[in-house]
Amino acid sequence: MAPSTSRTSVFLTAAILTLLFAITPIACWRPWPHLNPNSSDLLYDASKKFEGSSEFVHLRYHMGPVLTGNITVHTIWYGRWQKSQKKIIRGFINSISDVHARHPSVAGWWRTVQLYTDQTGANISHTVQLGQEKNDRFYSHGKSLTRLSIQSVIRSAVTARTKPLPINPRNGLYLLLTSDDVYVQDFCGQVCGFHYFTFPSIVGYTLPYAWVGNSAKQCPGVCAYPFAVPDFRPGWKALKSPNGDVGVEGMISVIAHEIAELATNPLVNAWYAGQDPSAPVEIADLCEGIYGTGGGGSYTGQMLTDHDGATYNMNGIRRKFLVQWVWNHVVSYCTGPNALDQ
Ligand SMILES: *[C@@H]1O[C@H](CO)[C@@H](O)[C@H](O)[C@H]1NC(C)=O
Ligand SMILES: *[C@@H]1O[C@H](CO)[C@@H](O)[C@H](O)[C@H]1NC(C)=O
Ligand SMILES: *[C@@H]1O[C@H](CO)[C@@H](O)[C@H](O)[C@H]1NC(C)=O
Repeated sequence: MAPSTSRTSVFLTAAILTLLFAITPIACWRPWPHLNPNSSDLLYDASKKFEGSSEFVHLRYHMGPVLTGNITVHTIWYGRWQKSQKKIIRGFINSISDVHARHPSVAGWWRTVQLYTDQTGANISHTVQLGQEKNDRFYSHGKSLTRLSIQSVIRSAVTARTKPLPINPRNGLYLLLTSDDVYVQDFCGQVCGFHYFTFPSIVGYTLPYAWVGNSAKQCPGVCAYPFAVPDFRPGWKALKSPNGDVGVEGMISVIAHEIAELATNPLVNAWYAGQDPSAPVEIADLCEGIYGTGGGGSYTGQMLTDHDGATYNMNGIRRKFLVQWVWNHVVSYCTGPNALDQ
């Protein structure tokens, strides 16, 4: 008995360690990527980075799959969501493949993501479409979620007795959106969103997913910047958002970030920089905080202003959005549709 017990416990320990290692949110949108609020390069030093351009970035392909088929985004609305909020987010996702929007467009932004290929040379899909949606209005796993319980929320959505979300491990992305009254482990302090894939042991399948939270009540100055400013920046002025909902519009850029990374690195073994696969730097990580030409350091870069004085950098279907740029591995810098030299 004894040997087999201890062998079991060794296996168990190994399994637990693997699990702990694996649930670290290795792929996140981090608040204040370039800035330490106490550091001396805080205010006007935009010179250290120019649109993320760097000869030191070695983004590499690690032979894993990327999303080359039509991408379907299945959304889980966790907690209380207003119709108007859902419309803004659906409007953004629908805009990704809408080639009719006026330049600079969300579809133009996605063109940089399409430059990435798998080992057969197939490009990331042009098509990103909304899939089915699930409402989790009554907080099935409570108002305080951990990284593990996030997977349980997804399990509930794909195994629900009525209208479960379809299982689509090849081209489906599962987007869990939490309302402003839901606490999520490390939200605000370390992350505004992250992506990973589910474990068969919890969900029954390996599904690429992302979580993004509405920061409106908890930390808009962190996760909805520049539509809100953090308390530690007295004198900074928040910019007006184009769709009238600061928390949700802060989410748009984080959702964009996560979808771009899910497409190019869905199982975290495809496109990333850095030697350590447990801490990959992905195509949107490299351009956090950059929204226009000249961006870098603490400067967002040149953005656009609409006739109401709201700030944006790209057009979608009947709406404007502010979305961070992503890394272009062909030219080795961050690019976006509103670049002045395009
Ligand atoms: C900034 O400095 C203050 C005062 O020294 C300290 O309380 C705070 O934790 C620091 N913040 C960071 C992010 O280092
Ligand atoms: C596919 O990727 C290659 C390599 O980055 C690029 O040259 C080509 O333009 C891409 N095709 C599309 C349709 O984006
Ligand atoms: C993929 O999307 C395009 C529209 O962009 C559509 O014409 C095509 O039929 C779709 N293919 C599949 C297999 O669903």
